[in-house]
Amino acid sequence: MTKVEGLGRSALPLSMDVRDRGSVDDAMREVERVYGGLDVLVANAGILGLMQPPEELDEENYKNVFAVNVDGVLHATRAAYPLLKKSGCGKIVITSSVAGLTGYGPQLAYCASKGAVIPLAKSLALAWAKDGINVNVVLPGAVNTPFTTRILDDPHKLSYILNRIPLGRLAEPEDIVGPILFLSSHAADYCTGSLLVVDGGGTSRAMAQ
Ligand SMILES: NC(=O)c1ccc[n+]([C@@H]2O[C@H](COP(=O)([O-])OP(=O)(O)OC[C@H]3O[C@@H](n4cnc5c(N)ncnc54)[C@H](O)[C@@H]3O)[C@@H](O)[C@H]2O)c1
Repeated sequence: MTKVEGLGRSALPLSMDVRDRGSVDDAMREVERVYGGLDVLVANAGILGLMQPPEELDEENYKNVFAVNVDGVLHATRAAYPLLKKSGCGKIVITSSVAGLTGYGPQLAYCASKGAVIPLAKSLALAWAKDGINVNVVLPGAVNTPFTTRILDDPHKLSYILNRIPLGRLAEPEDIVGPILFLSSHAADYCTGSLLVVDGGGTSRAMAQ
């Protein structure tokens, strides 16, 4: 039983590789067969890739990060489009990152890919406004998930990051849930092409502080 089913709600676990348009299309067909439609798509799959200085960048790794983090978003949003359009009030939330607003040499591929989905989202927002579909972006800071294990395991990196977060702690996954729920709901009907930073204030610091 999934966690969602444990709450007495219906869930349909489907596996797909977002790099492969065909596998995303198949999953979306299954959603349509079982539920008859779709109201919300959260394009959340993402990978960090290897940590490497740009001068030693592994191009295969770079392409793979883009295949998941950018192509994957494109595949999912395009596959969901007909169903979201049919819904009449479809919502798309794309998970970028504050890394997409800044840069970090060893995470060049990740930062560039998370930046790329911002104009991608804005382009979809403009194109699909006529279909009643809102497309918005959530940009988490550092979240306590398996994704950040490499940081959490290194006490120096962890304390460096914590010192830069005004709220003084990493985000827990639940901290990102509320903003995604908001952007998925009618409360956000007038938001499209919007960016919602959820980083405990980390990117708000002035250089002088
Ligand atoms: N954890 C953080 O600090 C942080 C910060 C900012 C943004 N993000 C973003 O949040 C999103 C979720 O990350 P997370 O922290 O929960 O990490 P996570 O590693 O726990 O989850 C990533 C998910 O993406 C899925 N995935 C990876 N490659 C895939 C593929 N090819 N096809 C289908 N699914 C695939 C994985 O199965 C996993 O469920 C990612 O887009 C990540 O870039 C995370």
